[in-house]
Amino acid sequence: MTMQVKQISTALGAEISNVDLAKVTDDQVEEIKSLLTEHKVIFFPGQKLSQDEHVEYGSRFGELEGHPNLKNKRLTHPKIFEIAASSGGIADEWHTDITFQDSPAIMSVLHMVKCPELGGDTMWSNLNAAYEALSDPIKDLCEGITALHDARPHGKPEKTAIHPVVRLHPISGKKILYVNEHFTRRIVEMNIEESDMLLSYLTKWVTRPQFTVRYHWSEGTIAMWDNRSTQHYVVNDFVGERIIQRVTIMGDEVTGSSNPRWKPALREGYSAVTTHDKQLINHLKDKKAI
Ligand SMILES: [Fe+2]
Repeated sequence: MTMQVKQISTALGAEISNVDLAKVTDDQVEEIKSLLTEHKVIFFPGQKLSQDEHVEYGSRFGELEGHPNLKNKRLTHPKIFEIAASSGGIADEWHTDITFQDSPAIMSVLHMVKCPELGGDTMWSNLNAAYEALSDPIKDLCEGITALHDARPHGKPEKTAIHPVVRLHPISGKKILYVNEHFTRRIVEMNIEESDMLLSYLTKWVTRPQFTVRYHWSEGTIAMWDNRSTQHYVVNDFVGERIIQRVTIMGDEVTGSSNPRWKPALREGYSAVTTHDKQLINHLKDKKAI
């Protein structure tokens, strides 16, 4: 059986057919890995995997972990993270998953269990295309700086990580613009006003329509996204229940395209003059960086 691949937007995304994910061979797993690196998000309509088959399929791609902060409300399977809209699970801010950790997710395998009657599409953006479309001066600036991310959306602002603003994809070697509106709080090497200006620009820039794909779901579809080169966003326009189940392959190692060129922009005496300064100071003290 040869897999059929249909690209669904210019920026990223492909639908894959003619494969049964409950019975994939090792060769097919390798092919799917390379399709994922190339297209960044891939969809397998009409699969309808059981929970055990979903976990078994996901584990072909690496070590699975439950969500570090959020607990399932309805489901007890330890390796599946379920998000039901009726319990407030609507990820309607652009984000890359779990970037508040030093080691975020490598990829996710999502099962669309219950679709709303209308709406509830998901969008993804291509962070390599977003980087490449920047002007040379902004590219140069971004390659010299890092950003603090936190888990404030999960009620845990003390969980923080610093990542380069431009990272290298570990397989393709391509440059990725790695800041997101949900978890990224400030540029480490800029004062807070400059940081707010640049982050507000970059986090909007990555969501420009020409960098994105918008996917309309059908029940049973399995989607996989490369969490290292994309962001995603659920369009919160639906009425009725929307339930997804996801397994997450953890263990990403984030490497910058170059080292930071400047020191952290802390005010004289490290005084905690703003919430963001205080948070950055605490992070750097924890890491014994100041
Ligand atoms: Fe997400």
